Amino acid sequence: MKIAVRGGYETAFDDSGGAGRPLVLVHGFPLDRRIWAAQVRGLRGKARVIAPDLRGFGETPPRPGPLTIDAYALDVRDLLDELAIESAVIGGVSMGGYVALAFHRHFPHRVRGLVLVDTRAGADSLEARRARDEMAGVARMKGAGAVASRMLPKMLGRGGGPDADRLAERLRAIMEAQPVEAIAGALGAMRDRQDATESLASIRVPALVVTGAEDQLIAPAESRALADSIPDAHLEVIPGAGHLPNFEKPDAFDAVLTRFLARLPEPAHRT
Ligand code: MLT
Repeated sequence: MKIAVRGGYETAFDDSGGAGRPLVLVHGFPLDRRIWAAQVRGLRGKARVIAPDLRGFGETPPRPGPLTIDAYALDVRDLLDELAIESAVIGGVSMGGYVALAFHRHFPHRVRGLVLVDTRAGADSLEARRARDEMAGVARMKGAGAVASRMLPKMLGRGGGPDADRLAERLRAIMEAQPVEAIAGALGAMRDRQDATESLASIRVPALVVTGAEDQLIAPAESRALADSIPDAHLEVIPGAGHLPNFEKPDAFDAVLTRFLARLPEPAHRT
Protein backbone atom coordinates (compact mmCIF):
# COMPACT_ATOMS: atom_id res chain seq x y z
CA MET A 1 0.00 0.00 0.00
CA LYS A 2 0.97 3.63 -0.34
CA ILE A 3 0.50 6.55 1.99
CA ALA A 4 1.19 10.25 1.67
CA VAL A 5 3.60 11.48 4.32
CA ARG A 6 4.92 14.87 5.42
CA GLY A 7 5.39 17.18 2.45
CA GLY A 8 2.87 15.24 0.34
CA TYR A 9 5.40 12.60 -0.74
CA GLU A 10 4.31 9.01 -1.09
CA THR A 11 5.83 6.04 0.68
CA ALA A 12 4.98 2.47 -0.30
CA PHE A 13 5.03 -0.11 2.48
CA ASP A 14 3.66 -3.43 3.65
CA ASP A 15 1.83 -3.50 6.95
CA SER A 16 0.92 -6.89 8.39
CA GLY A 17 -1.54 -5.13 10.68
CA GLY A 18 -2.72 -6.71 13.88
CA ALA A 19 -2.34 -5.66 17.46
CA GLY A 20 1.26 -6.74 17.98
CA ARG A 21 4.20 -4.52 18.76
CA PRO A 22 5.20 -2.37 15.74
CA LEU A 23 8.35 -3.67 14.06
CA VAL A 24 9.85 -1.67 11.19
CA LEU A 25 12.06 -3.64 8.79
CA VAL A 26 14.18 -1.63 6.32
CA HIS A 27 15.52 -3.30 3.20
CA GLY A 28 19.12 -3.27 1.97
CA PHE A 29 20.80 -2.29 -1.28
CA PRO A 30 19.78 -2.46 -4.14
CA LEU A 31 16.53 -4.02 -3.06
CA ASP A 32 13.05 -3.20 -1.88
CA ARG A 33 10.52 -4.28 0.72
CA ARG A 34 9.82 -7.59 -1.01
CA ILE A 35 12.83 -9.11 0.73
CA TRP A 36 10.76 -9.01 3.96
CA ALA A 37 7.77 -10.84 2.47
CA ALA A 38 8.35 -13.90 4.66
CA GLN A 39 8.44 -11.78 7.82
CA VAL A 40 5.33 -9.78 6.88
CA ARG A 41 3.52 -13.14 6.59
CA GLY A 42 5.35 -15.20 9.19
CA LEU A 43 5.42 -12.83 12.16
CA ARG A 44 1.70 -12.09 12.05
CA GLY A 45 0.34 -12.30 15.57
CA LYS A 46 3.80 -11.71 17.06
CA ALA A 47 4.41 -8.21 15.72
CA ARG A 48 2.88 -5.63 13.44
CA VAL A 49 5.48 -5.70 10.68
CA ILE A 50 5.90 -2.49 8.69
CA ALA A 51 8.26 -2.76 5.73
CA PRO A 52 8.73 0.41 3.67
CA ASP A 53 10.35 0.95 0.30
CA LEU A 54 13.01 3.60 0.80
CA ARG A 55 12.62 6.65 -1.41
CA GLY A 56 13.29 5.84 -5.05
CA PHE A 57 13.23 2.07 -4.48
CA GLY A 58 10.39 -0.35 -5.16
CA GLU A 59 7.11 1.53 -5.39
CA THR A 60 8.18 4.63 -3.47
CA PRO A 61 8.76 7.52 -5.86
CA PRO A 62 12.03 9.45 -5.70
CA ARG A 63 12.19 12.85 -4.05
CA PRO A 64 14.17 15.92 -4.91
CA GLY A 65 17.28 16.74 -2.91
CA PRO A 66 20.42 14.91 -1.87
CA LEU A 67 20.11 11.32 -0.72
CA THR A 68 21.61 10.54 2.66
CA ILE A 69 21.18 7.75 5.18
CA ASP A 70 19.74 10.37 7.53
CA ALA A 71 17.14 11.32 4.89
CA TYR A 72 16.05 7.68 4.70
CA ALA A 73 15.78 7.63 8.51
CA LEU A 74 13.62 10.77 8.48
CA ASP A 75 11.38 9.11 5.88
CA VAL A 76 10.86 6.21 8.32
CA ARG A 77 9.99 8.74 11.02
CA ASP A 78 7.47 10.40 8.67
CA LEU A 79 5.86 7.04 7.91
CA LEU A 80 5.53 6.22 11.62
CA ASP A 81 4.03 9.67 12.23
CA GLU A 82 1.51 9.12 9.49
CA LEU A 83 0.57 5.73 10.94
CA ALA A 84 0.31 7.34 14.42
CA ILE A 85 2.94 4.96 15.80
CA GLU A 86 4.90 6.67 18.55
CA SER A 87 7.55 4.01 19.06
CA ALA A 88 8.60 0.75 17.43
CA VAL A 89 11.28 -1.88 17.22
CA ILE A 90 13.46 -0.65 14.37
CA GLY A 91 15.33 -3.12 12.21
CA GLY A 92 17.15 -3.30 8.94
CA VAL A 93 19.43 -5.47 6.87
CA SER A 94 22.78 -4.07 5.71
CA MET A 95 22.01 -0.58 4.30
CA GLY A 96 18.72 -0.88 6.18
CA GLY A 97 20.80 -1.37 9.33
CA TYR A 98 22.63 1.90 8.61
CA VAL A 99 19.17 3.50 8.43
CA ALA A 100 18.09 1.84 11.70
CA LEU A 101 21.20 3.14 13.49
CA ALA A 102 20.63 6.64 12.05
CA PHE A 103 16.99 6.49 13.19
CA HIS A 104 18.15 5.59 16.68
CA ARG A 105 20.68 8.42 16.68
CA HIS A 106 17.98 10.96 15.78
CA PHE A 107 15.00 9.54 17.68
CA PRO A 108 16.21 7.27 20.51
CA HIS A 109 12.97 7.83 22.44
CA ARG A 110 11.00 6.24 19.59
CA VAL A 111 13.02 3.02 19.55
CA ARG A 112 11.90 0.04 21.69
CA GLY A 113 14.53 -2.32 20.35
CA LEU A 114 16.97 -2.67 17.45
CA VAL A 115 17.31 -5.50 14.97
CA LEU A 116 20.59 -5.19 13.07
CA VAL A 117 21.02 -7.77 10.33
CA ASP A 118 24.30 -8.26 8.44
CA THR A 119 25.24 -4.65 8.96
CA ARG A 120 27.96 -2.55 10.52
CA ALA A 121 28.40 0.73 12.40
CA GLY A 122 31.64 1.96 10.84
CA ALA A 123 31.90 4.38 7.93
CA ASP A 124 33.35 3.50 4.52
CA SER A 125 37.12 3.31 4.10
CA LEU A 126 38.71 5.35 1.32
CA GLU A 127 38.85 2.22 -0.81
CA ALA A 128 35.17 1.45 -0.15
CA ARG A 129 34.24 5.02 -1.04
CA ARG A 130 36.03 4.67 -4.37
CA ALA A 131 34.25 1.38 -5.01
CA ARG A 132 30.88 3.13 -4.43
CA ASP A 133 31.69 5.69 -7.11
CA GLU A 134 32.82 2.99 -9.47
CA MET A 135 29.60 1.03 -8.90
CA ALA A 136 27.51 4.19 -9.43
CA GLY A 137 29.32 4.60 -12.76
CA VAL A 138 28.44 1.00 -13.68
CA ALA A 139 24.80 1.66 -12.76
CA ARG A 140 24.64 4.80 -14.88
CA MET A 141 26.46 3.33 -17.87
CA LYS A 142 25.09 -0.20 -17.90
CA GLY A 143 21.93 -0.18 -15.83
CA ALA A 144 20.54 -2.06 -12.84
CA GLY A 145 21.15 -5.45 -14.48
CA ALA A 146 24.91 -4.91 -14.39
CA VAL A 147 24.79 -3.99 -10.70
CA ALA A 148 22.68 -7.08 -10.04
CA SER A 149 25.22 -9.28 -11.83
CA ARG A 150 28.01 -7.91 -9.64
CA MET A 151 26.11 -8.20 -6.37
CA LEU A 152 24.26 -11.47 -6.80
CA PRO A 153 27.20 -13.87 -6.39
CA LYS A 154 27.93 -12.30 -2.98
CA MET A 155 24.40 -12.13 -1.62
CA LEU A 156 23.46 -15.71 -0.80
CA GLY A 157 25.15 -18.50 1.16
CA ARG A 158 27.58 -20.78 -0.61
CA GLY A 159 25.82 -23.99 0.27
CA GLY A 160 23.31 -24.08 -2.55
CA GLY A 161 20.37 -26.21 -1.46
CA PRO A 162 17.13 -27.04 -3.21
CA ASP A 163 15.91 -23.44 -3.22
CA ALA A 164 19.18 -21.78 -4.32
CA ASP A 165 18.28 -21.16 -7.96
CA ARG A 166 14.79 -19.92 -7.18
CA LEU A 167 16.10 -17.53 -4.51
CA ALA A 168 18.86 -16.23 -6.78
CA GLU A 169 16.41 -15.57 -9.60
CA ARG A 170 13.98 -13.82 -7.27
CA LEU A 171 16.77 -11.65 -5.90
CA ARG A 172 18.03 -10.81 -9.37
CA ALA A 173 14.52 -9.76 -10.44
CA ILE A 174 14.21 -7.47 -7.40
CA MET A 175 17.62 -5.89 -8.04
CA GLU A 176 17.01 -5.42 -11.75
CA ALA A 177 13.71 -3.67 -11.03
CA GLN A 178 15.35 -0.79 -9.12
CA PRO A 179 15.71 2.56 -10.89
CA VAL A 180 19.27 3.59 -11.70
CA GLU A 181 18.87 6.93 -9.93
CA ALA A 182 17.86 5.18 -6.69
CA ILE A 183 20.86 2.84 -6.99
CA ALA A 184 23.34 5.63 -7.69
CA GLY A 185 21.81 7.82 -4.98
CA ALA A 186 21.99 5.07 -2.37
CA LEU A 187 25.63 4.42 -3.24
CA GLY A 188 26.37 8.08 -2.55
CA ALA A 189 24.37 7.94 0.69
CA MET A 190 26.30 4.88 1.90
CA ARG A 191 29.63 6.37 0.80
CA ASP A 192 29.03 9.50 2.86
CA ARG A 193 27.33 7.95 5.87
CA GLN A 194 28.42 8.89 9.38
CA ASP A 195 30.42 6.52 11.50
CA ALA A 196 27.92 5.31 14.12
CA THR A 197 30.49 3.45 16.24
CA GLU A 198 30.67 6.10 18.95
CA SER A 199 26.90 6.03 19.45
CA LEU A 200 26.71 2.29 20.12
CA ALA A 201 27.68 2.47 23.80
CA SER A 202 24.76 4.82 24.46
CA ILE A 203 22.10 2.47 23.08
CA ARG A 204 19.74 1.84 26.00
CA VAL A 205 17.36 -0.62 24.34
CA PRO A 206 17.87 -4.33 23.69
CA ALA A 207 19.43 -5.13 20.33
CA LEU A 208 19.37 -8.28 18.27
CA VAL A 209 22.34 -8.59 15.93
CA VAL A 210 21.92 -11.26 13.26
CA THR A 211 24.40 -12.49 10.69
CA GLY A 212 24.36 -15.16 8.05
CA ALA A 213 27.23 -17.55 8.83
CA GLU A 214 28.36 -17.24 5.20
CA ASP A 215 28.00 -13.50 4.63
CA GLN A 216 30.63 -12.47 2.08
CA LEU A 217 29.79 -8.76 2.11
CA ILE A 218 29.84 -8.02 5.85
CA ALA A 219 31.80 -10.74 7.59
CA PRO A 220 30.27 -12.38 10.69
CA ALA A 221 33.23 -11.01 12.68
CA GLU A 222 31.89 -7.51 12.01
CA SER A 223 28.49 -8.48 13.41
CA ARG A 224 30.21 -9.95 16.46
CA ALA A 225 32.09 -6.66 16.96
CA LEU A 226 28.81 -4.74 16.56
CA ALA A 227 27.08 -6.88 19.19
CA ASP A 228 30.06 -6.51 21.54
CA SER A 229 29.82 -2.72 21.31
CA ILE A 230 26.12 -2.43 22.25
CA PRO A 231 25.44 -2.80 26.00
CA ASP A 232 22.37 -5.09 25.75
CA ALA A 233 22.91 -6.94 22.49
CA HIS A 234 22.54 -10.57 21.56
CA LEU A 235 24.21 -12.09 18.49
CA GLU A 236 22.56 -14.81 16.42
CA VAL A 237 24.34 -16.58 13.57
CA ILE A 238 22.09 -18.20 10.95
CA PRO A 239 23.75 -21.33 9.51
CA GLY A 240 23.80 -21.71 5.73
CA ALA A 241 22.78 -18.11 5.08
CA GLY A 242 24.71 -15.33 3.37
CA HIS A 243 24.03 -11.59 3.44
CA LEU A 244 20.22 -11.81 3.62
CA PRO A 245 19.28 -14.46 6.20
CA ASN A 246 15.70 -13.13 6.45
CA PHE A 247 15.24 -13.86 2.74
CA GLU A 248 17.30 -17.03 2.50
CA LYS A 249 16.44 -18.82 5.75
CA PRO A 250 13.19 -17.18 6.85
CA ASP A 251 12.18 -19.91 9.31
CA ALA A 252 15.45 -19.73 11.24
CA PHE A 253 15.45 -15.94 11.03
CA ASP A 254 11.85 -15.59 12.22
CA ALA A 255 12.56 -17.94 15.12
CA VAL A 256 15.40 -15.77 16.49
CA LEU A 257 13.39 -12.61 15.90
CA THR A 258 10.37 -14.09 17.68
CA ARG A 259 12.53 -15.01 20.70
CA PHE A 260 13.92 -11.48 20.78
CA LEU A 261 10.47 -9.87 20.58
CA ALA A 262 9.22 -12.09 23.39
CA ARG A 263 11.91 -10.87 25.77
CA LEU A 264 11.27 -7.17 25.17
CA PRO A 265 9.45 -5.39 27.98
CA GLU A 266 5.75 -4.78 27.30
CA PRO A 267 5.12 -1.23 26.11
CA ALA A 268 3.67 1.05 28.79
CA HIS A 269 0.78 1.85 26.46
CA ARG A 270 -0.23 0.71 22.99
CA THR A 271 0.39 3.19 20.22
C1 MLT B 1 23.52 -3.80 1.37
O1 MLT B 1 23.33 -5.02 1.28
O2 MLT B 1 22.64 -3.02 1.74
C2 MLT B 1 24.88 -3.28 0.97
O3 MLT B 1 25.69 -4.35 0.58
C3 MLT B 1 25.52 -2.53 2.08
C4 MLT B 1 26.83 -1.92 1.69
O4 MLT B 1 27.23 -2.05 0.53
O5 MLT B 1 27.48 -1.30 2.54
